[in-house]
Amino acid sequence: MSTRRAMKNVSTAGARRRTVQSALGEPAARKKRPAISSLDALLNVADAEAAARRAMSRGAFDYYAGGAEDERTLARNRDGIDRWVLLHRVLVDVSHVDLATTALDAPLTMPICLAPAAFHRLAHKDGEVATARAAGTAGTLLTASTIASTSLEDIAAAASGPLWFQLYVYKNRDIARDLAERAERAGYSALVLTVDTPMLGRRERDFRNGFTLPPSVKMANFEKYGDQFERWNVPGGMAARIHELMDHSLTWESVDWLRSVTRLPIVLKGIVRADDARRAVEAGVRAIIVSNHGGRQLDGGEATILALPDVVDAVAGRAEVYVDGGFRRGSDILKALALGARGAFIGRPYLWGLAAGGEAGVGRVLEILRAELGLAMALAGCARLSDIDRSLVRPA
Ligand code: FNR
Repeated sequence: MSTRRAMKNVSTAGARRRTVQSALGEPAARKKRPAISSLDALLNVADAEAAARRAMSRGAFDYYAGGAEDERTLARNRDGIDRWVLLHRVLVDVSHVDLATTALDAPLTMPICLAPAAFHRLAHKDGEVATARAAGTAGTLLTASTIASTSLEDIAAAASGPLWFQLYVYKNRDIARDLAERAERAGYSALVLTVDTPMLGRRERDFRNGFTLPPSVKMANFEKYGDQFERWNVPGGMAARIHELMDHSLTWESVDWLRSVTRLPIVLKGIVRADDARRAVEAGVRAIIVSNHGGRQLDGGEATILALPDVVDAVAGRAEVYVDGGFRRGSDILKALALGARGAFIGRPYLWGLAAGGEAGVGRVLEILRAELGLAMALAGCARLSDIDRSLVRPA
């Protein structure tokens, strides 16, 4: 991590550290505001999703919401969370609940991070800049996508919190290498190699809707490589273009290759198996994100929260383990932490916030989840993250 970024991180997280009491806030009526703004009226992530549905075109909403083929894995991520139940501990002093943690040494105010997602400008004109500002204000980590609609340099300029850069390795290794070098120069503190996407899953909603990107939304990181937007932005063309760029022959050798071209720590995103997790640790990765791409890749796959315990056991503390997929409530995240995740990443929830209200909307979703997690911890008898262990959950 660059010194500049490290110092920024420390001051941001320090300044933003807060107790759950302040995050929960008092009822809106006591805040002496003239009227409850529409964002205050969002009580939970489902409300943000409903607001996003109203704010977005059908095609863009479906691009965000959809999964691969019959969307069974998309649904299973949520169902899997209900396959665990919480067993709360009683008579514990929870007058101060502390959510502060770190991700690869960067201080965070809470164990809730933002997963990489393409094209934030589909949700709001301020796109990734709004998301980066909101993540910084909340004191948490944003992972910028390779296929962002804002360049990685502009995202870094807007960010005040820690940043990871998600990388797809392309057939043209010069592009992958250049992206890795650009991320390092811009102050990103880790590279997240997404490994569940050797090809793009079939998202049938996009075909049905004939989805194309509006002209204002581009793959901003690729403009310098002379990518010709007009040529591929036809129905089905975006998926075809991404497919064409990807290296379908990616193997573990690519992880070694990436290590040879960067000094940044490497995170693998998209692992769901114990053997792959062990291999990742042997390959020297510093963190793993248990993920199935939010159900957008292999349909019929396992829910991530059901795959998590095996990965945690296989890694045995040799790398940090995170999880994403279907987390919509603080109590969902509490279950992931109890099963050994260091933190949870969210995708669609913050995209819904972005569509509902730009930077403030992302901020609102993050504060809702912070408050819910703090309350769930308090109700489960956990004042600190270190109080959370496997005894808090059991199969339903
Ligand atoms: C994604 N995801 C994703 N992952 C990745 O590694 N690179 C990317 O560019 C994208 N793009 C993307 C776009 C959209 C619209 C979505 C919904 C998701 C997957 C993402 O990082 C994450 O794994 C899931 O979104 C997590 O599931 P939930 O929280 O959306 O249920």
